[in-house]
Amino acid sequence: MADAYPSSMRESIGRVEATRPQRMGVEPQRLSLEERREVLDQFHPDYKEEGKRALAVGPSKGELVPHEMADLLEAYPLIDPDRVDLGQADYEVDVLVIGGGGGGTVAALWANEAGIPAGRILIATKLRHGDSNSMMAQGGIQAADKENDSPPIHYLDVQGGGHFGNDPELVRALVSDAPEVLRWHEKLGVMYDKDPEGRMLTIHGGGTSRKRMHSAKDYTGMEIMRVLRDEALGRGIPTVEFSPVVELISDDKGQVVGAVLWNMETEEYSVVRAKATVLATGGWGRLHIQGFPTSNHYGATADGLVLAYRAGAGLRDLDSVQYHPTGAAFPEQIVGLLITEKVRGMGAQPVNVEGELFVHPLEPRDVESGAFIRECSSPEQGGRGRGVVTPTGMIGIWLDTPMVDLIHGQGTFNRELSAIWRMYARFDIDPSADPVLTYPTLHYQNGGVVIDADGATQVPGLFAGGEVSGGIHGKNRLMGNSLLDFNVFGRRAGIAAAKWAQRSKPGKPTLEHALRYTQDLQAAGVEEVRKAPSLLPEYRGKKTLARVVDLI
Ligand code: FUM
Repeated sequence: MADAYPSSMRESIGRVEATRPQRMGVEPQRLSLEERREVLDQFHPDYKEEGKRALAVGPSKGELVPHEMADLLEAYPLIDPDRVDLGQADYEVDVLVIGGGGGGTVAALWANEAGIPAGRILIATKLRHGDSNSMMAQGGIQAADKENDSPPIHYLDVQGGGHFGNDPELVRALVSDAPEVLRWHEKLGVMYDKDPEGRMLTIHGGGTSRKRMHSAKDYTGMEIMRVLRDEALGRGIPTVEFSPVVELISDDKGQVVGAVLWNMETEEYSVVRAKATVLATGGWGRLHIQGFPTSNHYGATADGLVLAYRAGAGLRDLDSVQYHPTGAAFPEQIVGLLITEKVRGMGAQPVNVEGELFVHPLEPRDVESGAFIRECSSPEQGGRGRGVVTPTGMIGIWLDTPMVDLIHGQGTFNRELSAIWRMYARFDIDPSADPVLTYPTLHYQNGGVVIDADGATQVPGLFAGGEVSGGIHGKNRLMGNSLLDFNVFGRRAGIAAAKWAQRSKPGKPTLEHALRYTQDLQAAGVEEVRKAPSLLPEYRGKKTLARVVDLI
């Protein structure tokens, strides 16, 4: 069988193998706060001023956001109000849940638990029920459920990782509910990894001071979603698929009272009247901010941010983008796909073209990514020029994956990290025998719609949970807090929406907010060149992987 790696990369692998014995068991110093600051300032993409601009209109006018996001927030409504008859409701429900990923499914389940009959809930989703970043999550979920740990310790880790930019009340909710979330999952049937005595297995993630990462091999998100989706199906909660929301509906009292769906197959609008609406549309990876590849699913196009913002909800921390350090950088077909942090949690080290370990493997994600970019950037760019270059000009850092089996025993990689193993096996690469090449990939939206601890947005009748919301993670989320986030805030939003629905009195449905937003755009001199939400990513005529040529 031909070698999957070309000779130039194979030579570098030789150097990785030569340094491995000295590196085994070595834990490098963590960076000091000053060193972390320097790496972030000079190399993390968030700190490039030219990557963002101030919003021209809306409740968060003046806030800095990436250009790619500003383009959508400063776009005109996709909907043609003349083609929609709000007087005719196609669905009439108590709770509408927008989004069929983790946050949406959890919200629907808890709205049901809180007393809304299954048939009075509707999940509307852009693709299929379950198509989401939640389903693709690999490494684990954090919860302080061991004797040496506690929610307050978890709290400090979250705040530190987020550079203390987090909303304290939201962090408190996140860490306090975490142990209960795991008990709920177990009750429903999620199969977490356990030792022979039945105790949950836990490892470290980047920036954690205790081992509190619980996983189901490297399919944690899929395992949780398998169970949650079955539960929703079993309870008979209706789902309408391939039907993204293109606009929320507001009433004459300023409440959100439903949404307009767009059927992707028939290209028809339908109107959902709802007493309460939960937004759980996920994140923005497919905006490919600053030209980065992404680990995200195909539908991650920030639709919920656009919908909520036009309806009057504030946004926060959108100047902060999460780049996961270990996206695949070779072969070309899988560029950007995730190699879970669990691989480093199990001992694999990041090393440069010479096989040198240049950073602690588990710095918080933003710092680790900055260190990777510094190692790969040329000396003219202030970097170290020690990345590994592929035949097509991609550049990356070796993740020394064979260390996993050397530390934990032969067969561990294949058994515990089977998703990664299979991803590479398709290209004749065995990560338990050879290192794999990685580079930061756009992974998460740290900020989002402003919510309170019940998942209520600033707009009456509109709730949000999961990646679409902001404030929980400050300026940088730690691994394993996203699966936790959608469970905690999906639940809180679902319960709060149910309570709202039980007492609300919707007024006359209108699209006034969209018309007002259009007028604001016109007054600000924004030309009508774009429409949003974008619904699907646009790849035609674009070079989305621009970074490859820039760095060398
Ligand atoms: O590396 C990972 O498995 C990612 C986990 C997360 O983003 O929480």
